[in-house]
Amino acid sequence: MDFQLKTLGLAQAATEKADALVVLVPATGANGKDRIASLVAAARKSGDLGDKAGKQIATYRPEGIAATRLVLAAVGQGDAAAVRSAVLAAVQALKSASPKRVVVLFAGAADAAGVSAAVSAAADASYVYTTTKSKPEPRTLRSCVIGVDKPAPLKPAFDTAVALVQGVEFAKEWGNRPGNHCTPTQLAEAARSLAKLPRLKCEVLGPKEVAALGMGAFMAVAQGSAEPLRFVVLRYQGAAKGVAPQVLVGKGITFDTGGVSLKPAAEMDEMKFDMCGAASVLGVFRALGELQPAINVVGLIPTCENMNDGRAIKPGDVVTSMSGQTIEILNTDAEGRLILCDALTYAKRFEPEVVIDIATLTGACVVALGGVRSGLFSTDDALAEALHAAGEASQDRCWRLPLDDEYAEGLKTQFADVANVAGRAGGAITAAKFLQRFTSDFPWAHLDIAGTAWKSGAAKGATGRPVPLLMTYLLGRQDAAKAASPSGKSARKPA
Ligand code: BES
Ligand code: MN
Ligand code: ZN
Repeated sequence: MDFQLKTLGLAQAATEKADALVVLVPATGANGKDRIASLVAAARKSGDLGDKAGKQIATYRPEGIAATRLVLAAVGQGDAAAVRSAVLAAVQALKSASPKRVVVLFAGAADAAGVSAAVSAAADASYVYTTTKSKPEPRTLRSCVIGVDKPAPLKPAFDTAVALVQGVEFAKEWGNRPGNHCTPTQLAEAARSLAKLPRLKCEVLGPKEVAALGMGAFMAVAQGSAEPLRFVVLRYQGAAKGVAPQVLVGKGITFDTGGVSLKPAAEMDEMKFDMCGAASVLGVFRALGELQPAINVVGLIPTCENMNDGRAIKPGDVVTSMSGQTIEILNTDAEGRLILCDALTYAKRFEPEVVIDIATLTGACVVALGGVRSGLFSTDDALAEALHAAGEASQDRCWRLPLDDEYAEGLKTQFADVANVAGRAGGAITAAKFLQRFTSDFPWAHLDIAGTAWKSGAAKGATGRPVPLLMTYLLGRQDAAKAASPSGKSARKPA
């Protein structure tokens, strides 16, 4: 989809040709004598358009307005959350009309966060998955114009938002693909396809190399599958070689049956989404290639299937991880932490500034936080705060959960250094405590996205989260580095 940021006042907007004109109306303001301002005034007077965000009025072929459809959408105080929900609702409601060109007009003051929210919401609401349909009905929305008073100061935020859409949609695409169209090999190929972007490199390891590295925990999960595992190493170099990278580690289970500790049949199809952590890492690299910030980033993706088979691991099996720690696999369905722990050990060689893993790790996190906020765990307060703030700023929120050592009690066992599960209580935290054992060499954060990476039910599909959170965090690192050395030239493309 093509986005455009344009100077557009209320009066001009009336003459703007479009299949739909969505006017974001704040609680106060947007006054005037022109056609749109009069309609807004009338709608306010009648009480049909309250001053609270959420209300919408749609009309067809309104007189004196060039657009075919007009939607007045209340955005209250005009904060980014209100803009996001108003644009989502408007574009969703317009879907049946299959508009090709939509204009979203800020009738009040527009700020960077609002413009970003409008772009991401328009993309989210018009996204369609087509890859495995025989007669695809592709997205009809071709062009989205964002109309504001003064575009110049908003242009950087707009450009970032448009690049973010690319990343989010890349993550959605791979998240949505069924397991037989997103094998570990295919996922690694998707990563490799990103290496054509500037400053990006991709290396893919197979079973032999992974065995040579001693990744016994990762190999154990993969051994029950006919599909060979892959270990993806993505590198983005936007800063000098010596600058410590931010390392992202994404869980890439392309299908999770649970293994011998088999999952129930109901909704098991949703376990095709168990590689959404990996997809979010791919999405971030897609956006990095677009924006080219002056930072270094490494992406690590351990990817395999978790299958039930004659060769599969059994409850009670003990394996040796790359770190040397032995692990008793008491539940083969707690496989995410087994592939992640070896990737975390591997991360050390990059002498990272921080390591962040992203994983659809536990059902317990869905119980704790639902689909609104991802679970955040960290051994480093500054990192936790930066990630939390990035989530707030990008409307891709997370919430920090604790890592007290008492939570690790249940992971003790007589038969190995650690067990891969504790009891049912605090399941998201005990999973994080398991991972923490492999992170002593660097500041570390873990995002449990089990509740936020996809939606169930009628709107079933990948969300592309937490690409916005991660990208906002990473761009913040660039700003921090720039502030530390003001002479350091940005590697960012001139706009
Ligand atoms: N991929 C699942 C986590 C999951 C479950 C995400 C449901 C979203 C919805 C993970 O591999 C898993 O199976 N975790 C187990 C851990 C348990 C065995 C300790 C879980 O959450 O039930
Ligand atoms: Mn599992
Ligand atoms: Zn899983």
